[in-house]
Amino acid sequence: MQNAGIWGIGSFTEGREVTNFDLEKTLDTSDEWIRTRTGIERRVFAEDDVDTSDMSYYAAVDALKEAELDASELDLILVATVTPDYPFPSVSSLLQERLGAPKAAAMDISAACAGFIYGLATAEQFIKTGMYKHVLVIGAEKLSKVTDMDDRNTAVLFGDGAGAAVVGPVDEGKGFLSFELGSDGEGAMHIRQDPQLIMNGREVFKFAVRQMGESSINVVEKAGLTKDDVDFLVPHQANIRIMEAARERLELPKDKMAATVHKYGNTSSSSIPIAMVEELKNGKIKEGDLIVMVGFGSGLVWGATAMRWGR
Ligand code: UT7
Repeated sequence: MQNAGIWGIGSFTEGREVTNFDLEKTLDTSDEWIRTRTGIERRVFAEDDVDTSDMSYYAAVDALKEAELDASELDLILVATVTPDYPFPSVSSLLQERLGAPKAAAMDISAACAGFIYGLATAEQFIKTGMYKHVLVIGAEKLSKVTDMDDRNTAVLFGDGAGAAVVGPVDEGKGFLSFELGSDGEGAMHIRQDPQLIMNGREVFKFAVRQMGESSINVVEKAGLTKDDVDFLVPHQANIRIMEAARERLELPKDKMAATVHKYGNTSSSSIPIAMVEELKNGKIKEGDLIVMVGFGSGLVWGATAMRWGR
């Protein structure tokens, strides 16, 4: 079977900066509460005329450039989002036209904050079997469209953004070594959109702390490795306390975990690729590193992968 991995990665995090101090003006909250309970200091809300497909487009252009691949070579576009421009057509179809990818099939994936991992796992199947060669996987959200800015339980947590990865064949021993995907519908109502975002934070917190650690260990073991082999952790950026719990479970030092939650808040499916891009720029992820990516979210769902960075 053909190994699959990431050829290029890009992100989009532009928009209107909203600090905790800005939120203090309209909500019964404080910078102190938000920082100590979540690690968030600011978030970015996309401009009114920028929707999920626009953010996806900008992230995709950067990923294709890094991958040195023309969009016309794409076989499949997968956009993981819970905030599409429209219920239909899909964001993927909008992108297929805008990017100029005439041979690409297109579909959106709904797996909330674990959506990017679900997308990578789906892409890997097509490449492994030889059905497709080049798959564009995107996580993109305009959560500001569905967040109730009068609800302090949720308004302080979320932000907008997009991240994209070009997934293609890689050499033996590189790329994705293992995946774990899961779902527990019993907790489905804990985070829902009805009609705006509603969350039972405490329940989600407990689930996340347990699942992030467990899934991280599981993918490492599935790859035939141990936690001592892990070089870097890229967790879903929801809350620094949840992320730290996963890092401690892997017994990694503090600087071996991607952390961008203070800058962008929780950007759902886009948080993992956005964090990847930043840590690659910072030189924290290097060729040959064993990376664990892990996410969780509404569903409740989770997903993790262990991958060897490089093509
Ligand atoms: O991508 C997945 C999406 N979801 C998540 O990742 C959420 C996971 N959960 C969490 O991150 C945390 O549970 C929260 C950050 C949402 C809340 O933190 P917590 O430490 O679990 O606080 P809590 O829910 O136990 O609430 C403590 C208190 C409550 O007051 P009482 O009942 O003790 O009087 C809340 O009403 O904090 C209050 N509170 C706030 N106070 C100031 C809740 N939100 C705020 C706020 N500012 N923004």
